[in-house]
Amino acid sequence: MSDASRIRVGEGSDSAYDVVVGTGLLGELPDLLGPGVERVLVIHPHALRAKGEAVRDDLGAQGFSAFIAEVPDAEEAKSARVAERLWGVLGQSGFTRSDAIVGVGGGTVTDLAGFLAATWLRGVKVVQVPTTLLGMVDAAVGGKTGINTAEGKNLVGAFHPPAGVLCDLATLHTLPPGDFVSGMAEVIKCGFIADPAILDLVEADPEGVQRADGPAVRELVERSIMVKARVVTDDPKESSLREILNYGHTFAHALEQVEGYTWRHGEAVSVGMVYAAELSRLAGRLDDAVVDRHRSTLTGVGLPTSYRGDRWPRLYDAMRRDKKSRGSLLRLVVLDGLARPGRLEGPDPLLLQAAYTRISSH
Ligand SMILES: NC(=O)c1ccc[n+]([C@@H]2O[C@H](COP(=O)([O-])OP(=O)(O)OC[C@H]3O[C@@H](n4cnc5c(N)ncnc54)[C@H](O)[C@@H]3O)[C@@H](O)[C@H]2O)c1
Repeated sequence: MSDASRIRVGEGSDSAYDVVVGTGLLGELPDLLGPGVERVLVIHPHALRAKGEAVRDDLGAQGFSAFIAEVPDAEEAKSARVAERLWGVLGQSGFTRSDAIVGVGGGTVTDLAGFLAATWLRGVKVVQVPTTLLGMVDAAVGGKTGINTAEGKNLVGAFHPPAGVLCDLATLHTLPPGDFVSGMAEVIKCGFIADPAILDLVEADPEGVQRADGPAVRELVERSIMVKARVVTDDPKESSLREILNYGHTFAHALEQVEGYTWRHGEAVSVGMVYAAELSRLAGRLDDAVVDRHRSTLTGVGLPTSYRGDRWPRLYDAMRRDKKSRGSLLRLVVLDGLARPGRLEGPDPLLLQAAYTRISSH
């Protein structure tokens, strides 16, 4: 028996879909694929081979022509070379406009699966089966798809909403603890920008939320998806409101770049949120208590809140080149209070540097 809950994304548009959250959810896949699908290509990384095969076998047993393809791990999956190989698989297997892709894996696999679906025959269905916390609360929901190029991450892609998203919480049990906690940074972000009940849950049991079997994990996943669902429903193509999801990300992207992508994304976002909070305070927009709450909540779950103090010129340069800034104007998401995100456009460079000093560990 499934204990699934459903969160609707894009209500009112012709591309609305459900995100299903629970355990033991394979039986829900045909429903999410919808009518008319004959062939399905399941893609997965090596670490998720058993899960990918289970999905393929289950679809086969339910009458689909189910194919499977393994892709390289992590960011290696998001390349034109891998996409080209999979276009070959789709072509050789006779995939038509009414067939579908299923992505089983972390955000890298769901980004690739979405990109494949967006590009094959100018758009086929994709159902995402995220297996990381970050994948569930962020990457698989919202319809942004993409691959990397030699010049940078996510430079090639398309908006292509999935036909559905299936979050099987049991898959999180095999995730390395560091990856799980890293995903918690995006959950906490949802707490600061939109749903402070998330912060209350995290603070009530900081040990428990570091484990995939922690008692609050399901509610945290559901609440975070609801935050993202609300935002992307109002702004599917990132014209304005959706920017609030980038809270902490301008600094995080710069840090990741300066560190040559050796940091986990969530850890960079954690430091980036403290940076954004300090910037908000320096701009006279946020009080001390909320800034302090950033540090205590993030530290409580084992996430970093500071960064070395000798990297400003490179960080600033990277922030100015971040693709989220429009034209030459640097735009950052700040907070005007708990759950009150705002924008800071063209800030004084001295203010930006002062916020960096506040988060420097020296
Ligand atoms: N499209 C969007 O809106 C969006 C939003 C946020 C992030 N992203 C993208 O998501 C990607 C990061 O996603 P991620 O953090 O999930 O990384 P990931 O996909 O690389 O997964 C992390 C690692 O965990 C392994 N793994 C995944 N699930 C597992 C499981 N259940 N058990 C054991 N191992 C498992 C993977 O093989 C990988 O080695 C980035 O490429 C980022 O650009 C996209």
